[in-house]
Amino acid sequence: MSEIDSLKAQLQDLQDKALGSFKEAVDLNALQALRVAYLGKKGELTSVLKGVGKLPPAERPVIGQFVNATKTALAEALDSAEALLAVKEKQQRIEAERIDITLSGRSSQRGVLHPVQQGLNEMTAIFAQMGFEIAEGPEVEDEFHNFDALNIPQEHPARAMHDTFFFEASDEQQAKLLRTHTSPVQIRTMKNCVESGGEPPLAVVAPGRVYRCDYDVTHSPMFHQVEVFKVDKDVSLAHLKGVLKHFLSAYFEKDIEIRLRPHYFPFTEPSAEVDIACVFCSGKGCRICKGSGWVEVLGSGMIHPNVLKSVGIDSEIYSGFAFGLGVERLVMLKHGIPDLRLFFENDVRFLRRMGVSK
Ligand code: PHE
Repeated sequence: MSEIDSLKAQLQDLQDKALGSFKEAVDLNALQALRVAYLGKKGELTSVLKGVGKLPPAERPVIGQFVNATKTALAEALDSAEALLAVKEKQQRIEAERIDITLSGRSSQRGVLHPVQQGLNEMTAIFAQMGFEIAEGPEVEDEFHNFDALNIPQEHPARAMHDTFFFEASDEQQAKLLRTHTSPVQIRTMKNCVESGGEPPLAVVAPGRVYRCDYDVTHSPMFHQVEVFKVDKDVSLAHLKGVLKHFLSAYFEKDIEIRLRPHYFPFTEPSAEVDIACVFCSGKGCRICKGSGWVEVLGSGMIHPNVLKSVGIDSEIYSGFAFGLGVERLVMLKHGIPDLRLFFENDVRFLRRMGVSK
């Protein structure tokens, strides 16, 4: 066999071997290794080329064409094998990373409002719907707003009943205290109204925290009240009773029978404690109402003329009613919660069971 035929045969063998091995390459790395092995500087094609130098010069271009054709054939085969493998690898990756979107998701727990906050929201909303404006006052109060202006002067026995938390103060300073009820908001709103040149009618609902130095099964040193009052010409006890009945029926979501029992508060005259027919036994008598059929829910009355006077409202022209209710107590009655302490222990099982997410 002539030199040139032997070179051609070598090239053909090389091409056959190469094309076969490209087909068997398992991944892109293997293919890259083959590219280097055949077409690289120290590759097989280069070593065949070394034989070209031994040929007579006239035959060199002929074999040169063969070499180039082989080179092109190998490069093209490598490129198409590479493209095929790239598609295959992508498909394998997609398969491996497959997400089953039909699987149900992990459930996440949403927070819920504290039952007291829910109660406050519900109560405030009922009054807002009736046209009462929402007001708030500070929890750190002074004696004027918490006591004096509410017709509870210094040395008045009612001060002792309030179990007040006082802050330390020097003699010149007005003593600061944690408000013992939401009634000081009455004073602040009426005073603001008068001082800014306004005048009644005023209809206000004031929700908030109050504090008393008292702790046992039915008392907590911090609890919540909602204060409601209205001042206008010709406001009467009948208005008070109507608003109370409407509110309590709306809150308990059923017709609620109420009764006003004469009582004493320094800031109202006349004053009444309000009872509702027991929501558990409908007035028949049970453990909750201690057999009486009635449960006390709030304090109320017609705003005392001295209170109107203290804020500069003429009690000859205007009158008003006011009441203050204990939020925890109403929430307990509505939901049959047996113990006040449940509200403050932050047992999430209780809170979640009571909870409404908002
Ligand atoms: N402030 C009274 C209390 O905390 C409740 C009340 C408010 C009574 C308004 C009458 C009028 O006990």
